[in-house]
Amino acid sequence: KRLILIGPPGSGKGTQSPIIKDEYCLCHLATGDMLRAAVAAKTPLGLKAKEAMDKGELVSDDLVVGIIDEAMKKPSCQKGFILDGFPRTVVQAQKLDEMLAKQGTKIDKVLNFAIDDAILEERITGRWIHPTSGRTYHSKFAPPKVPGTDDVTGEPLIQRKDDTAEVLKSRLEAFHRQTEPVIDYYSKKRVVAQLHADKPPKEVTAEVQKALS
Ligand code: AP5
Ligand code: ZN
Repeated sequence: KRLILIGPPGSGKGTQSPIIKDEYCLCHLATGDMLRAAVAAKTPLGLKAKEAMDKGELVSDDLVVGIIDEAMKKPSCQKGFILDGFPRTVVQAQKLDEMLAKQGTKIDKVLNFAIDDAILEERITGRWIHPTSGRTYHSKFAPPKVPGTDDVTGEPLIQRKDDTAEVLKSRLEAFHRQTEPVIDYYSKKRVVAQLHADKPPKEVTAEVQKALS
């Protein structure tokens, strides 16, 4: 399957991705994770992306399209993939369609993580991440066994630099202005499935499974 996960910051894309990935044996491509790795490694790409990310704005279409184009060539992504956080503009969606058309394939399903903005601040400001595995916790909704510590490795958890109430406002603005039109773009192609992303994680997983069956 070739899937896209679209939803505002904190809607649960990263939480549901590993479950879908394991169940369908797909490669998981998250542009946010790839950009954060580039920023941490101070690569030329990371240096270009950092400023926009810190402000909660989107990085340029050319940069992210380049990353995805490169990543999708991996053999593990040939049978199917989950795109988490891409495409985020209509231009990115058009470029993706062009890439797939060249391979004679197309997107099978777009999962729309629909949720009210009001819930997201609590989700974002309570999020804790284990940086090497990508495991995500929440101080209230999914607490680790020992606060600040990864359950599996015992290593420390971190918070994302853009996970503040203030930066969240710009991220939400970018979502409504630039990414919501992408949902309309795919609605016209009749591939969008609506999820109730405000429900508890297990119920969201059940909705994902239903949408993909
Ligand atoms: P990115 O990393 O993609 O961030 P985002 O879209 O803001 O999404 P998040 O990772 O914040 O949310 P999520 O839906 O994954 O939430 P999660 O499952 O972790 O992008 C970051 C930046 O990179 C962008 O601002 C931009 O600058 C740049 N960028 C990336 N892609 C780009 C692109 N294509 N073009 C241009 N720029 C790009 O859940 C959040 C919390 O809630 C967790 O603590 C979790 O435990 C909890 N939780 C999850 N589900 C539930 C539930 N059902 N109930 C209760 N709690 C829950
Ligand atoms: Zn995420």
